[in-house]
Amino acid sequence: MIAMAAPQAVAGVELAGVDVDSLGRVRNLNSVLFPVRYTAGFYKSLVLPGQFARLAFYNGACVGTITCRKQPLGFADTPAAFVGRGDPPAADYELYMMTLGVLAPYRRLGIAQALLASAVEAAAADPTVRRIVLHVQIDNDDALRFYHRRGFITVRMVERYYKVLDPPHAYLLHYRLR
Ligand SMILES: CC(C)(COP(=O)(O)OP(=O)(O)OC[C@H]1O[C@@H](n2cnc3c(N)ncnc32)[C@H](O)[C@@H]1OP(=O)(O)O)[C@@H](O)C(=O)NCCC(=O)NCCS
Repeated sequence: MIAMAAPQAVAGVELAGVDVDSLGRVRNLNSVLFPVRYTAGFYKSLVLPGQFARLAFYNGACVGTITCRKQPLGFADTPAAFVGRGDPPAADYELYMMTLGVLAPYRRLGIAQALLASAVEAAAADPTVRRIVLHVQIDNDDALRFYHRRGFITVRMVERYYKVLDPPHAYLLHYRLR
């Protein structure tokens, strides 16, 4: 397992789980943080089993969020290989990080690190989860540096991954747990 340094407790920061009552907070943050619009189905799915979502509060203000879903190992690399409902249950999984973001005035305080560490801890506690994976837009230098410094490796570039963004290309990143 690749060890990620345990985060220092960040003064004033608290993490909270997401339930149906707080989905609106995730939606509000995402609408500011990401150029992608997420569907109602995306938000409803966050409270289903196998999902991992947290909100970060800084001195009581809701300023950051992480959302992940558990999916069969390899799904992010070759989604076409998975049929869906007819697939047999997988033996191994990956935690796919859909979003991680912190409002701009609250960056460089360690809040994203705390959110990421909470997801790594949850994934590491599930013996069926082999790795954490995500896509990052190729020009998102802040995010790429953030992940590389925390043990994520770039696996490859996925051309035209984003339908509505410019540039449309993404890097696929992996963080190996076991
Ligand atoms: C990428 C992103 C999530 C990072 O959030 P963040 O809360 O600023 O991240 P952290 O504070 O945990 O760490 C960022 C840097 O600040 C540094 N830092 C943390 N606490 C610090 C402090 N008290 N003083 C100075 N620097 C500090 C960290 O060491 C880190 O630097 P490093 O990456 O060179 O090691 C944020 O830029 C963001 O929301 N971007 C927009 C959304 C996005 O693109 N998300 C990623 C794709 S899903």
